[in-house]
Amino acid sequence: MDIRKIKTKLKKDLSHFRYDHSIRVAKEAKRLAKHYHIDKKKAYLTGLIHDIAKELTEEENNYWIKKGNLSSDLQKEEYKNIKHADIGAIIAKEEYNLDDDICNAIKYHTIGNKDMDMLAKIIFIADKIGRKKLPSNLKQVKQIAYKDLNKSLIYLLEQEKIYIQQKGITIHKNTKELLKALKK
Ligand SMILES: [Fe+2]
Ligand SMILES: [Fe+2]
Repeated sequence: MDIRKIKTKLKKDLSHFRYDHSIRVAKEAKRLAKHYHIDKKKAYLTGLIHDIAKELTEEENNYWIKKGNLSSDLQKEEYKNIKHADIGAIIAKEEYNLDDDICNAIKYHTIGNKDMDMLAKIIFIADKIGRKKLPSNLKQVKQIAYKDLNKSLIYLLEQEKIYIQQKGITIHKNTKELLKALKK
Protein backbone atom coordinates (compact mmCIF):
# COMPACT_ATOMS: atom_id res chain seq x y z
CA MET A 1 0.00 0.00 0.00
CA ASP A 2 1.44 3.41 -0.86
CA ILE A 3 1.50 6.43 1.43
CA ARG A 4 -1.35 8.16 -0.43
CA LYS A 5 -3.67 5.22 -0.01
CA ILE A 6 -2.73 4.86 3.65
CA LYS A 7 -3.47 8.55 4.24
CA THR A 8 -6.89 8.21 2.62
CA LYS A 9 -7.67 5.18 4.77
CA LEU A 10 -6.44 6.89 7.95
CA LYS A 11 -8.47 10.01 7.24
CA LYS A 12 -11.51 7.79 7.10
CA ASP A 13 -10.64 5.72 10.19
CA LEU A 14 -9.33 8.41 12.55
CA SER A 15 -10.81 11.54 14.10
CA HIS A 16 -9.63 14.86 12.73
CA PHE A 17 -7.56 15.40 15.88
CA ARG A 18 -5.86 12.00 15.66
CA TYR A 19 -5.19 12.33 11.94
CA ASP A 20 -3.62 15.74 12.46
CA HIS A 21 -1.45 14.35 15.28
CA SER A 22 -0.37 11.43 13.09
CA ILE A 23 0.75 13.76 10.29
CA ARG A 24 2.78 15.85 12.75
CA VAL A 25 4.43 12.77 14.24
CA ALA A 26 5.20 11.47 10.73
CA LYS A 27 6.85 14.76 9.75
CA GLU A 28 8.90 14.96 12.94
CA ALA A 29 9.94 11.28 12.57
CA LYS A 30 11.04 11.98 9.01
CA ARG A 31 13.13 14.96 10.15
CA LEU A 32 14.78 12.90 12.88
CA ALA A 33 15.39 10.00 10.50
CA LYS A 34 17.05 12.35 8.02
CA HIS A 35 19.18 13.78 10.81
CA TYR A 36 20.33 10.32 11.90
CA HIS A 37 20.65 8.91 8.37
CA ILE A 38 18.05 6.21 8.59
CA ASP A 39 15.20 5.44 6.15
CA LYS A 40 13.10 8.64 6.01
CA LYS A 41 10.19 7.11 4.14
CA LYS A 42 9.91 4.31 6.65
CA ALA A 43 10.00 6.77 9.57
CA TYR A 44 7.27 8.89 7.97
CA LEU A 45 5.08 5.85 7.36
CA THR A 46 5.57 4.56 10.91
CA GLY A 47 4.70 7.96 12.37
CA LEU A 48 1.64 8.08 10.19
CA ILE A 49 0.19 4.83 11.44
CA HIS A 50 1.54 4.65 15.01
CA ASP A 51 -1.86 5.46 16.55
CA ILE A 52 -3.91 3.39 14.14
CA ALA A 53 -5.54 1.47 17.00
CA LYS A 54 -6.07 4.44 19.31
CA GLU A 55 -9.73 4.98 18.50
CA LEU A 56 -11.01 1.43 18.16
CA THR A 57 -14.16 0.26 19.90
CA GLU A 58 -13.90 -2.20 22.77
CA GLU A 59 -15.26 -4.87 20.45
CA GLU A 60 -12.58 -4.17 17.85
CA ASN A 61 -9.89 -4.16 20.53
CA ASN A 62 -11.01 -7.54 21.78
CA TYR A 63 -11.11 -8.92 18.23
CA TRP A 64 -7.46 -7.96 17.64
CA ILE A 65 -6.32 -9.12 21.08
CA LYS A 66 -7.72 -12.54 20.22
CA LYS A 67 -6.54 -12.58 16.61
CA GLY A 68 -3.05 -11.40 17.52
CA ASN A 69 -2.80 -13.83 20.43
CA LEU A 70 -2.10 -10.88 22.71
CA SER A 71 -2.22 -11.16 26.48
CA SER A 72 -5.75 -10.85 27.85
CA ASP A 73 -4.20 -8.55 30.48
CA LEU A 74 -4.58 -5.84 27.84
CA GLN A 75 -8.30 -5.88 28.53
CA LYS A 76 -7.64 -4.65 32.06
CA GLU A 77 -8.33 -1.01 32.96
CA GLU A 78 -4.63 -0.30 33.66
CA TYR A 79 -3.81 -0.95 29.98
CA LYS A 80 -6.53 1.37 28.71
CA ASN A 81 -4.14 3.99 27.35
CA ILE A 82 -1.30 1.76 26.24
CA LYS A 83 -2.90 -1.25 24.58
CA HIS A 84 -3.30 0.63 21.27
CA ALA A 85 0.44 0.12 20.81
CA ASP A 86 0.28 -3.68 20.94
CA ILE A 87 -2.92 -3.77 18.92
CA GLY A 88 -1.62 -1.24 16.39
CA ALA A 89 1.42 -3.42 15.77
CA ILE A 90 -0.80 -6.40 14.97
CA ILE A 91 -2.93 -4.32 12.58
CA ALA A 92 0.20 -2.98 10.88
CA LYS A 93 1.25 -6.57 10.21
CA GLU A 94 -2.11 -8.11 9.35
CA GLU A 95 -3.80 -5.31 7.42
CA TYR A 96 -0.84 -3.41 6.00
CA ASN A 97 1.74 -6.18 5.81
CA LEU A 98 4.44 -3.83 7.08
CA ASP A 99 8.01 -4.75 8.03
CA ASP A 100 8.81 -6.05 11.52
CA ASP A 101 10.82 -2.97 12.49
CA ILE A 102 7.80 -0.76 11.76
CA CYS A 103 5.51 -3.06 13.77
CA ASN A 104 7.96 -3.07 16.68
CA ALA A 105 8.25 0.71 16.67
CA ILE A 106 4.45 0.89 16.94
CA LYS A 107 4.41 -1.77 19.64
CA TYR A 108 6.98 0.08 21.74
CA HIS A 109 5.69 3.64 21.34
CA THR A 110 3.81 3.94 24.64
CA ILE A 111 5.88 2.28 27.37
CA GLY A 112 9.10 1.62 25.48
CA ASN A 113 11.24 -1.50 25.46
CA LYS A 114 14.92 -2.25 25.99
CA ASP A 115 15.10 -3.73 22.49
CA MET A 116 14.11 -0.52 20.72
CA ASP A 117 16.09 0.28 17.58
CA MET A 118 16.70 3.73 16.09
CA LEU A 119 13.34 3.77 14.32
CA ALA A 120 11.47 2.86 17.51
CA LYS A 121 13.30 5.53 19.50
CA ILE A 122 12.56 8.12 16.83
CA ILE A 123 8.85 7.27 16.84
CA PHE A 124 8.70 7.33 20.64
CA ILE A 125 10.20 10.81 20.71
CA ALA A 126 8.40 12.15 17.64
CA ASP A 127 5.12 11.14 19.27
CA LYS A 128 5.88 13.55 22.12
CA ILE A 129 7.51 16.42 20.24
CA GLY A 130 5.53 16.31 16.99
CA ARG A 131 2.86 18.58 18.41
CA LYS A 132 1.47 21.98 17.59
CA LYS A 133 2.46 23.70 20.83
CA LEU A 134 5.24 22.33 22.99
CA PRO A 135 5.54 23.03 26.70
CA SER A 136 9.06 24.04 27.76
CA ASN A 137 10.05 20.55 28.95
CA LEU A 138 9.20 19.04 25.54
CA LYS A 139 11.01 21.87 23.76
CA GLN A 140 14.01 20.73 25.75
CA VAL A 141 13.44 17.10 24.69
CA LYS A 142 13.29 18.24 21.06
CA GLN A 143 16.50 20.19 21.35
CA ILE A 144 18.34 17.25 22.87
CA ALA A 145 16.78 14.80 20.38
CA TYR A 146 18.68 16.38 17.51
CA LYS A 147 21.94 16.10 19.43
CA ASP A 148 21.67 12.79 21.22
CA LEU A 149 18.64 10.54 20.76
CA ASN A 150 19.36 8.35 23.81
CA LYS A 151 19.88 11.35 26.06
CA SER A 152 16.59 12.88 25.02
CA LEU A 153 14.86 9.56 25.66
CA ILE A 154 16.35 9.37 29.15
CA TYR A 155 15.29 12.96 29.84
CA LEU A 156 11.77 12.24 28.62
CA LEU A 157 11.39 8.97 30.52
CA GLU A 158 12.71 10.44 33.76
CA GLN A 159 10.07 13.15 33.55
CA GLU A 160 7.33 10.65 32.80
CA LYS A 161 8.54 8.55 35.70
CA ILE A 162 8.16 11.45 38.13
CA TYR A 163 4.75 12.33 36.70
CA ILE A 164 3.52 8.74 36.96
CA GLN A 165 4.89 8.29 40.47
CA GLN A 166 3.16 11.47 41.58
CA LYS A 167 -0.08 9.83 40.58
CA GLY A 168 0.82 6.92 42.83
CA ILE A 169 1.53 4.48 40.00
CA THR A 170 4.82 2.65 39.48
CA ILE A 171 6.31 2.70 36.00
CA HIS A 172 5.93 -0.34 33.77
CA LYS A 173 8.74 -2.87 33.98
CA ASN A 174 9.51 -2.44 30.26
CA THR A 175 10.04 1.30 30.78
CA LYS A 176 12.24 0.58 33.76
CA GLU A 177 14.33 -1.88 31.73
CA LEU A 178 14.65 0.61 28.89
CA LEU A 179 15.87 3.35 31.23
CA LYS A 180 18.41 0.97 32.69
CA ALA A 181 19.65 -0.07 29.25
CA LEU A 182 19.93 3.53 28.08
CA LYS A 183 21.95 4.56 31.11
CA LYS A 184 24.52 1.78 30.65
FE1 LIG B 1 -0.10 6.36 20.86
FE1 LIG C 1 0.55 9.33 19.23
